[in-house]
Amino acid sequence: MSADIRNQFETSGQGHVFQFFDSLNASQQEQLLQQAEAIDLKELSDLVNTLVLGDGDDHINFEGMTPAPYTPLPDAGGDSELWSQAESVGEQALRDGRVAAFTPAGGQGTRLGYDGPKGTFAVTPIVKKSLFQVFAEKIKAASTRYGVTIPWYIMTSQGNHEATVRFFEENDFFGLDPDSVTHFAQGTMPAVDFDGKIILADKDTIALSPDGHGGSLRALVRSGSIADMEARGIDCVCFFQVDNPMVRCIDPEFIGFHVMGESELSSKACLKAYPKEKVGVFAEIDGKTQVIEYSDLPDELAEATEANGDLVYRAGSIAIHIFSRSLIARVGGDDASVKLPFHRADKKIPTVDAAGDPVAPSEPNGVKFEMFGFDALPFAKNPVVIETARADDFSPVKNAEGIDSPESSRQDQLRQFARWAIAADYDIEVDETGLPAFEFEVSPLYATNAKIFAERVAESRPEITAGTVLDVN
Ligand code: UD1
Repeated sequence: MSADIRNQFETSGQGHVFQFFDSLNASQQEQLLQQAEAIDLKELSDLVNTLVLGDGDDHINFEGMTPAPYTPLPDAGGDSELWSQAESVGEQALRDGRVAAFTPAGGQGTRLGYDGPKGTFAVTPIVKKSLFQVFAEKIKAASTRYGVTIPWYIMTSQGNHEATVRFFEENDFFGLDPDSVTHFAQGTMPAVDFDGKIILADKDTIALSPDGHGGSLRALVRSGSIADMEARGIDCVCFFQVDNPMVRCIDPEFIGFHVMGESELSSKACLKAYPKEKVGVFAEIDGKTQVIEYSDLPDELAEATEANGDLVYRAGSIAIHIFSRSLIARVGGDDASVKLPFHRADKKIPTVDAAGDPVAPSEPNGVKFEMFGFDALPFAKNPVVIETARADDFSPVKNAEGIDSPESSRQDQLRQFARWAIAADYDIEVDETGLPAFEFEVSPLYATNAKIFAERVAESRPEITAGTVLDVN
């Protein structure tokens, strides 16, 4: 068995993976063999040939590309009747128990410089709730409002799985029923050097990394989550990233548009703040809706404007989607004709030298392979894209400072609380950016939007002053 695996690696030109094998003890040998056995050498060799040694297979036909159509918000000329119809349809789907939440949370959070699962990072202004707590409370609030249990599936990675599960246990699942929360680890891919050779992280360890958030589709299938959803009667899976505390993760209007459009994959678009904002854009190529990642969009297209000055490619993807269960089952299954492509990312990958001593590269020394969830769009029937207001849905925590940082997200949360309070006739002083003069916080259990906030304060009109935290008892 051990000889078999070693032979296969030898034949594939990856025999060096076992260069230290004879010097390892039995349990180290076992670990290396187990890691090696899990690698699909055929898949890896195809990827090496196209993405590492070849010139890639993801040529984008920019000539034939047009912006993808989207449904504008009522404020931006959209049909307000249609939006309220969508809200009723979405509320019915929620009451019918058709909706689940899904968060890919396997990312490594390197840009933030935070050493822990990103979902455990504290984000709210006063109470300092973690990202996971904010989402849990939004899911709980919607479950209570619609009289159902909204199950939540969370994808971790091998590196953060245990710490993530422990965090939920230590916090009593933030009031959710533990039976409705499922954690599962995503798959991994080996990293290779620029010659396509698998990198060893240590003498007994292959350099493995998470297979991207697109790996969620196959992980949802392999972990049994899709079967669990089927048993629960779930067919709408609300997908949102772990870094965005402002997301309306369970949004009746969005669910309604998804259901009315008989869509297999719906997306929210946010108008780009500036031409080179680091968000993908919605485009149509050969009649198929796609997200073109910011790093792939040539400057002249990113900057192109219409006669009225609007950006041509203004519909930015903020990674908020609704997947149908059937699409996940299809694309995450074994059918080779509907597989997500891999993308190449050049990274600094810690490794060992010929003597087995550790090397921490200062420049990228290898390639990681990742799948992106939005690459399922071309496989989806009737994709739907709707506009959302950035202030209502998007203020992610990605960088330690500046744009998309803990501080910018904190301020955006405060602006949102102030808008809700002002709309409900509170006298709150704000600056020209809408930032209130003092801090207060609204728990998702109290309100998750302006309408619910107005309903709440109509019941008992609480005072709002510096340090107020509006929560349920
Ligand atoms: C992403 C999108 C971009 C979008 C932006 C909006 C990609 C490639 N780009 O960029 O189009 O405009 O968000 O905020 O997605 N994750 C995993 N496993 C992995 C890798 C990532 O679960 O192997 C999760 C992360 O935990 C996170 C999410 O996927 O929840 C996004 O990952 P990240 O790599 O940070 O994407 P961005 O570059 O921010």
